[in-house]
Order: sequence, then structure tokens, then C-alpha cells
Amino acid sequence: MLPIIGELRPWADPTQLQINRLPMRPSLPVPDGRRVALDGDWSFRLFETPDTVPASAVTGPTPSSGGRWRTVAVPGNWTMQIPEDLPQYTNIQMPFPGPPPELPDRNPTGVYRRSFEIGARTSVGRTVLHVGGAESVHVVYLNGRFVGYGTDSRLPSEYDVSAVVRPGVNDLAIVVVRFSAHSYVEDQDQWWMAGLHRQVWLETRPAVGIDDVEVVPDWDVASSTGSLSVRTSIVHSALPEPGYRVRTRVTSTSGRKIGRLHDLPVPHQHARPYVFRGFEVVATWADLRVDPWSAETPTLYEVHVELVAPDGSVVDATTQRTGFRRIEIRDRRLLVNGQPVWIFGVNRHDHHPDRGKAVTVADMRADLVAMRAHNITAVRTSHYPNDSAFLDLCDELGFYVVGEANIESHGYNFSLCDDPRYRAAWVDRGARMVSRDKNHPSIIMWSLGNESGYGVNHDALAGWIRRSDPSRPLHYEDAVRIEGWIDGGRPATDVACPMYPTIESIREYGEDPSGDRPLIMCEYSHAMGNSNGSLADYWSTITSTPGLQGGFLWEWKDHTLRQHLPNGTVRLAYGGQFGDEPNDCNFVADGLMSSELVPHPAMREVAWVHRPVTVERARNGLRVTNRQSFLGLGWLRAQWELLENGIATRHGRLELPPIAPHESATVPLPCPLPSDGDALLSVRFTTRADDWFAAAGHLVAWDQVVLRDRRRGRTRSSAGGARLESAVTTEPVLNLWRAATDNDGFKLMPELAQRLRVGGQALRNWQDAGVDQVPADELVSQTCTVRDDGEARVYRHVVDVPESLADLPRIGSLFVVAARFDRVRWCGRGPHENYPDRCSSAMVGTWDSAIDELPYIVPQEFGLRTECSWFELIDTASGEILTIEAVRPASLHISATHHTPGDLFGAATDAELRRRDEVVVCVDVAHRGLGTASCGPDVLPEYRIASGRHEFSYRLSLRG
Ligand code: GAL
Ligand code: MG
Repeated sequence: MLPIIGELRPWADPTQLQINRLPMRPSLPVPDGRRVALDGDWSFRLFETPDTVPASAVTGPTPSSGGRWRTVAVPGNWTMQIPEDLPQYTNIQMPFPGPPPELPDRNPTGVYRRSFEIGARTSVGRTVLHVGGAESVHVVYLNGRFVGYGTDSRLPSEYDVSAVVRPGVNDLAIVVVRFSAHSYVEDQDQWWMAGLHRQVWLETRPAVGIDDVEVVPDWDVASSTGSLSVRTSIVHSALPEPGYRVRTRVTSTSGRKIGRLHDLPVPHQHARPYVFRGFEVVATWADLRVDPWSAETPTLYEVHVELVAPDGSVVDATTQRTGFRRIEIRDRRLLVNGQPVWIFGVNRHDHHPDRGKAVTVADMRADLVAMRAHNITAVRTSHYPNDSAFLDLCDELGFYVVGEANIESHGYNFSLCDDPRYRAAWVDRGARMVSRDKNHPSIIMWSLGNESGYGVNHDALAGWIRRSDPSRPLHYEDAVRIEGWIDGGRPATDVACPMYPTIESIREYGEDPSGDRPLIMCEYSHAMGNSNGSLADYWSTITSTPGLQGGFLWEWKDHTLRQHLPNGTVRLAYGGQFGDEPNDCNFVADGLMSSELVPHPAMREVAWVHRPVTVERARNGLRVTNRQSFLGLGWLRAQWELLENGIATRHGRLELPPIAPHESATVPLPCPLPSDGDALLSVRFTTRADDWFAAAGHLVAWDQVVLRDRRRGRTRSSAGGARLESAVTTEPVLNLWRAATDNDGFKLMPELAQRLRVGGQALRNWQDAGVDQVPADELVSQTCTVRDDGEARVYRHVVDVPESLADLPRIGSLFVVAARFDRVRWCGRGPHENYPDRCSSAMVGTWDSAIDELPYIVPQEFGLRTECSWFELIDTASGEILTIEAVRPASLHISATHHTPGDLFGAATDAELRRRDEVVVCVDVAHRGLGTASCGPDVLPEYRIASGRHEFSYRLSLRG
């Protein structure tokens, strides 16, 4: 039984938030030598429950590893380091039955032990232990004595250990309990992990020292000046004698002095207790000639605070960075320094494939670099406060951040938010987040948490934040979901922030003049597998409808974990693959990036919809629009390229006049219109100089405008007949299926399977259909004519789709090509994979690439290129080229991979996927869009395949 705390069992009590935990404060840098890192190897032992941890495990000298004690890394999750207790993934459901606050019988509890040595104390001061993050709750012992207890896995806990720490060797024990009464408010859609996943350190602080620094900057648009207020509070173990002073000054990051130095006395309570406000000093500045902060112009300044003792010595000092900006909601718009800004955002979780929740500063930076390289400039810290270092990076690099409290009671969505036992947890979690993160200029809104219903506990927290920080609006999705976007949830949210709304519903909101809050989607366009259909449709609605300002894509990264299997193979694993039950399978793999930070194909579409400059065809030239809020286009170089019949024929630099933020200019066409044939003009914007997120020449924005549209296939020399058979090894067959994407799997495929019957039997799954066969030929009638003119073969399909089969996955033709063809070249949309509802970023051109490999974690349809007028498969060794030319219509959608739709559909995991040597080619006249139905709207009607007659023909030829 754990000493002292064992009787209390605080982990089982939702009202018990902490014992001896210090009030929260911002991350305050300390002078050199005051902080001792306790990261590295710790001794560790796992117990079945907190009740089975014997007192001896936390008292006595630190055990060395061996026997039941082993070594684990801090920061780290033990669930990623030891085989006895593994990660578990659930979305909404809790991993154990409940109800709150019931805990499971097996509740893994880890005892972390390490010793540290400190020298004899030279001055009277305090020693503070900082525990950066412990999932789920933790108990601290030092030198055998109980120190404290803390909750909230995603915020630090600090304890004053002065009374227990001793010169020489000290023995520290931190007991971490995996599940607690607080797990019910940490029910986010992510892996359940456990352990000390953030840094642990020890810090000495003076007896009378700086406790809190609150920096409130402002920027006045009219006068273009900044103002600032810095409130410094002093902490003391005994009443400080009178005569302390606080010196506060502001500098640029290079040390240039800004405004005057404030040297103010710390008030003393003996004077007049009634008006005494605490041992605090407020320094203010007005009319500062400074540069404003925004995500586009992240200029920072430094606030230096010194505490001066009556004898004139500086006893404590710290620095905070700040940026001058004003966030406000006016005229239904969220304004930064008076300007509306587009929210080009993503939801980001802390995640690393090997370390789980233990992410390093380098990991965080790598995320931000990749985000910015894809024109992502806003982050919602879904669904909890991140390490302070993440916010430091956002301040410095320029990101707008929605800081979210670590509150999600999804499994008990409609009860805990009104449950008095959880009231204190709500207020404390949110208030501690604000107290820690208030000084970060990057934070533009506070979020009360995620998916926790809407109840009195929310309004209690909202009230605390509003009074404490009037400088930032509030955000809370469930308040508007439950009570309505127009008027609902006003105490808890200042923005309408729905998740996964339809395009139609956001347009309606924008067009309804009674909505006075800006609409910023807190989550949309669920990136699970082959997804993100209609992203460009969202953005054309957002940019053309008042009151809509963008949103946060779901989500940045897959949360797959690298798993080393006994047979020596390594895979990126999802829910259930650790034997975790219950689990929600691959719903945890729904990122725009793989967990190893490789972009999925949809990322090109994201970069395109977020591009900072757009080009459209105007009557007398090109209309160029600067979508930024503060910057001109001087950092970009614009280049044009003329394509005639898909082939680039001319190019040059596009000269642009200065275009102010949110302004457009029309420039003449850079070249005369060719006299004949189809003509497209592509414009590309690349960076002029090296930047923190990319080297010079990085492609930032691109657009293609149609000058004349009359695209045709081309006809080339060839050899038909027998020679063609050496390349094309199967006769083309009608192909109506695609391997279900993650988005089909949830809605489309079961429905279709119901309707498509073969020989009277319901098609429950793809294999039942006889995957490479033409399914349901009694229901879909086709005629296929083949004409061999000696040079080439022309295939012509006429397909009649009855009304009952409207909304098929695809209508096309499938054939297999010999393995020696190893590259492809095509004239159509590219270079990346694209689908009818995700192709705006894919420009028409002539592209070439290797044969695509599956870019998704779960096998599914992939690799399509839409609107191809021709498509070549190349045998690079012999130089032979097999050409597919669209005859009618003038372009077709084509993919070439090493898998049939059946191979892909039949394989549950990568490991099961058969990779053929041959190349499987699909030529489609129609292909259903992707939509986002795994979580959100299905494919829009205009991207579905209608019933009726579909006719197409293409020509196959071989040369070389
Ligand atoms: C939302 C939720 C996210 C995630 C997403 C689906 O409902 O806020 O945490 O579960 O759906 O991937
Ligand atoms: Mg949830």
C-alpha cells in the first residue's frame, strides 16, 4: 500500500485534483545553473494496480535494474518500452466499462525510481520538482516521504520539495497510475498510453522570487503602435521584508531597447491590507513603435523581469517573449490586427511512431516545417495543451493556435459536463492551461476541450477564462452542435465551430444574416485513407460566402505505431494490432501525413486550397489575388508556362505589379494565344530565398487557366496484333468496382453490396464478387467491340447502367500489362494521384513517374490520374512503349499499379497484400469521387456516377 496516499486512493476520486501541487505559471526560463534535468534512464517496475504497490517500492534507496526492476527512458511511455503493458486504441468508448468513476480491476501502475545528487545549499531557497506530463495521474515521493499528487496528463505539475530534499544523494519515486477517475475526462480519440512522457527536472528558486509573469500585448491599428502590460507576482516562503523592487524592460530579440525601464516597488501588505492586491507589480507601456505580430510576420520582443532585493542585489530574473497583436471578433469576422485572416489549419496530436506521446522539440519543429511547406498556418492543439516548447515554436515561426484544454468526456458525453464531481476538474484543467499558456502570442483562441457535451461545468470554466483573459475569444464545438450554430452555446463559444459540416450547411449559415459569429470549422475533411474529396469545393464556398473563415483539417498525422513483430518484420500498427481490446481499429490512421511524416497524396490538394496567391482567367488577362492578410507577394517569384495539347511549348517570368493583402490585380496574358489546338497556361509561384521551411525555389502556389479547350488524344505510330499481345497479357474486361477506400467502407460499399447481386446472391464482400470478373452482368449490359487495324487495337465499350445501379464506384476497363513495363508517362492531371473530387491541385501536363506504390496504411483504391488524353507504359530496358489513347471521350481516368482492385480489397493489412509483378491498368470513363464519409459527408451528387448509357473507347498500341 502506498504510504499516506494509499488510504486516500485519490486516483479513484474525481474531486481530488491534486495534493501539494503548486499553482500553474507560464514556462519561465531561469538563470543558468538553477535547473537540473532528470531525464534519461530510470529504474522502473510495473504493478497490477496502485493498491498492490508496496511501500518498499517507493521508499529506500533507488533500486538498480535487474530482477523485477528494469530501465525505461524518461521522457517516454512505458507502453512503448515494455512488453507487459501495451498501447490501447479506442475512439469514443472507454477502454473499460465504467460507469464513472469506476476503474478496471487491472490498472497498470508504474513505479519510476532514480537518484540524483545535489551539493550543499549555498542560499536559503526553494527547490521545486517539475513533472512535465504523466499519464494518467501520479504520486511523488522523495527520500521516502510523500511529496504530492497531480492530475491532467497534458500539463506539468510542480511540487515544492524544499523540506525533503537533502545535500548529497536523493531518492526520487514517481508512481504513475494508468487509469484514474480522470481518464473519463481524457477520453480523446487516441492511444491510451502511460508514463512520464514529458521532461522531469529540479529547479532551485530563491526564497523570495518571481512566481508569475503575465504579459498582455496589444496592437492599435489606427496608430500603428503597440502597448503592453506586464504583471509580475512575487512568491515568498516567509513574508518578504519591505523594499523589494521589480525592474521590467522590453527589448527586441537582438537586444535593442524598446520603451522605458520600469523600476517599481513591490507593495507590502502591512500598509493597508484592505486594498492590498498581492505582492505584485504591473508595468505598462503605451505608444510603442514596434512591429506587429502575425503568423505572416511573427516579430517577437522580449520582456525582461528582475526582482531586486532591498540590498540592491538581483535575486531572481526571467524573460518572456511577446508579440504585439490584437485578436477580436467584429462584423462576423475573426480579426488579427484589424485584418480578417484565413484559417488554413490542421488538428495536431502529439505523436511519434516509436515514442508515442513523448515528442521532442525536433519532432515538433519537423511537424511545423512540413506544415508550413504545405501552406498550413494554423494549428488546433487537439485535444490538450502541448508542451510549452511547441507554443514557443509557433510564436517564433508564425502559426495561429487554438489552445485546447485537456477535457474530453466523449464516452459519457451527456453526463459528466453536468456532474458536480467533475466540476472542479473542468475549471482547473482549463484554468491551468490558460495560466500556463497566456503569454504566447500565437494563441488566438482558447478551446474548452472537445466532445464533452455541453453543461454547467463548461460555463463555469468559460466564466473563469473570460474574466481572467479578456484578450482572446473562446471556442467550443459541442456548444454549437447541441444548441445550434446561430445562437447556441454563447457563454462557451464566440465562434461557430462545427465539425464535419456539409458544404451546403456552412453556405446556409453564411447566407443567413442572423449569424453574427464567424464560422471556423474545428474539424473537417477527414483524411482517413484515400480521402479529402471536395476540399476545393469547401474552399470555393468559404472564400465566396460571408462569415466563413476556414478551419482545421482532421488531422495532421496518422497515429500508427512502429511495431516489431516476433517474425522480425516491422509494421506501422493501429488499434487491435497490439491485442488491445476493445479497439477502434484503423480509425487512428486518419492523417494527411503518415506517422513517419511522409505526406499522403491529398496533401498536394491541401497545399493548393491554402495557397497564398491565386490566378484566374479574366476577360482581358489574368486576375491575380493576394490571399494573405499582411504581406505583399515580394517573397515569391512567378513563372508562366504555356501548354499546347498538353505539351509545354513556352515559358517565362510573370511580371506582377505590387498587390496588397486581400487585393487583386489584372495582368495581361504573358503570351499570345496560339492559333489552334487546346491551350492552357500554368502559373507557378516559388520562394525567392531560403526560408526556415524550405530552400529557395519551393513551390508555394500554382494555378492553371484554360485559354482554349479542345483537348484531343494524339495518334502515334505503332504495331498491333501479335506484338501487342506480348505487352498486354489479358483481354480488357469491364470494371465496375474499386477496392473500397476507408471512406467507401463505412457507407458506400455495404449499400452497393446489397444492391449488386451475382446469381441472386448478395455480394457481402468483394471476394464474393469474383474480383476480376465483370460482376452482375445480368444487370449491367455491355457490348465491347474490338477493332484491330493492324497498327493498333481500339476497344469500345457501351455500358447500360440501370437505375437500380446508379452510383457505381467506377465504369471502366481493366487489363494486365507485362512486368517489364516499369515507368509511366501521361498527358493528363498530375503529377500526384487525383480523383474527380480531389483534382484541383493536379494540373494538366505531361508527367512521368515510376509505378505507384500503395500510399495508405490499409490497402484500398489508389493511384488514379484523371483526364488523361494518353498514358504510356514504358519498358525502360528495351525502350518499348505501350500507349493508351483516349478516343472517346477525349480523356479518360487511368491508373497503373501492381494490384487488382480485388487484391487490394481482399487484403486487410499491408502484409496480406499481394503485389503482382505485372502492371494492372484501369481505364475509366467515370470514377466516383472520394468524399469523406469515414467521418463526414459522402461524395457530392455531381461526383457520383449516374445510371444510363456510358460509352467509351480507347486505342492500344506498341512502339519501340
Ligand atoms: C472527431 C473528434 C476527433 C476524432 C475525429 C475522427 O469527432 O473530435 O477527436 O475522433 O472525430 O477521426
Ligand atoms: Mg472523441
